[in-house]
Amino acid sequence: MSLRAVKGMKDILPDEISKWHRLETAFRQRVERYGFREVRFPIVEPTALFVRSIGETTDIVEKEMYTFTDRGEKSLTLRPEGTASAVRAYVQHSIQAKEPVTKWYYLGPMYRRERPAKGRYRQFYQAGIEVFGDPGPYVDAEVIDMVVGFISSLGITDVEVLVGSIGGPRTRERYRDALLTYLAPHRAELCSDCQRRMDANPLRVLDCKVPRCAEIAAEAPSMLQYLTDDDRAHFEGLQEALTLLGTPYRVEGSLVRGLDYYTRTLFEVLGKGEGLGAQNALLGGGRYDQMVESLGGPDTPAIGFAMGLERLLMAMPDEGAGSHVDVFIVAAQPEVRAQAALLGRELRDAGLRVESDLRGGSLKSQLRRADKMNARIAMILGESEVEQGVVQLKDLREQTQEQVPRPQAADRARALLQT
Ligand code: HAM
Repeated sequence: MSLRAVKGMKDILPDEISKWHRLETAFRQRVERYGFREVRFPIVEPTALFVRSIGETTDIVEKEMYTFTDRGEKSLTLRPEGTASAVRAYVQHSIQAKEPVTKWYYLGPMYRRERPAKGRYRQFYQAGIEVFGDPGPYVDAEVIDMVVGFISSLGITDVEVLVGSIGGPRTRERYRDALLTYLAPHRAELCSDCQRRMDANPLRVLDCKVPRCAEIAAEAPSMLQYLTDDDRAHFEGLQEALTLLGTPYRVEGSLVRGLDYYTRTLFEVLGKGEGLGAQNALLGGGRYDQMVESLGGPDTPAIGFAMGLERLLMAMPDEGAGSHVDVFIVAAQPEVRAQAALLGRELRDAGLRVESDLRGGSLKSQLRRADKMNARIAMILGESEVEQGVVQLKDLREQTQEQVPRPQAADRARALLQT
């Protein structure tokens, strides 16, 4: 049997990659405008990092991690997300001693053994940011405004921005009691996982995908009613700032996220367009003011989000047929193939993207390849052109041809490419 990629993990072939590049470049440009700098973490981390930060009773930790023992010694896990690694690195390198506020961004693959579906993979790519050292709420609003603007700049216009607050530890304690009181009479109707969750971590019941559990969760009291005064003031500050920035949002009192580390601000952006299907969360994020300290660092507030790149790509409008080639060089006779290679180098040195078929072949078949690659220009080089120091420059879109002195070929090509 032929070998295939692991279920839920896909190849990204060159035909798809220009859309990825466009997305990644746009992301970098956008966040760098806000002062974020790139950080890269290992793909593998100690398992304990995710267990302690994401939470023992979350689906990710209970069911979805790719965990293995490293040659019988250490338990390691393929990272299911980036925030835990960011915090680990922030603490490990004592970044707080170097700057009061740290703004990091990252891009890369994450691994979760979920049931594969449209928009849900076992290896997927995230682009995310994390801000350390600012308690908010204004930075919370700025980060949400930044990502909403980014998504709209990609041409994704049909979105819904949900914001909520889960409060701090005191709010959570009050809410937990209220939730347990509400859930108690429904206990027998809940799935066995949720019955267990009621004892271990009742908030996780709100995130259960089993239909009856979701129905019960939908009627649960809203977290927002239980916010302490400080948590409420924070949430109101966030909303005022979002309103001032003109960022559209909807308050969602029952917003729950699949990770345990959040405090106060939570947010998600859902794509409403057709391309997405059921997996319509384009991004999720929130504040995690206790994670740095709980992983051994100083008391440091933090907020961030991560976007699923596959989902953004599905929601982005198509860009039309692009090309990875500006100029295709055609060698009119086999004898000029070395000269064609030299011309290729001259043009590449001048910054053009150049292809040729140095195997030779008829003029016609070489021009066909140029067309197939969607090259805008063909440069034809024969023995007489080499002798005279010129090339025949053919504009394949306009179907015009001109003879150009070789030293000016690159400039002329660039001028044409701009039209
Ligand atoms: P998350 O909500 O688990 O948050 O994931 C963020 C985004 O990653 C989702 O909204 C979705 O677009 C994408 N995603 C998640 N799982 C999959 C999957 N199996 N296949 C395809 N896409 C997926 C986090 O990961 C947090 N670290 C976000 C964060 C950063 N919070 C604070 N800072």
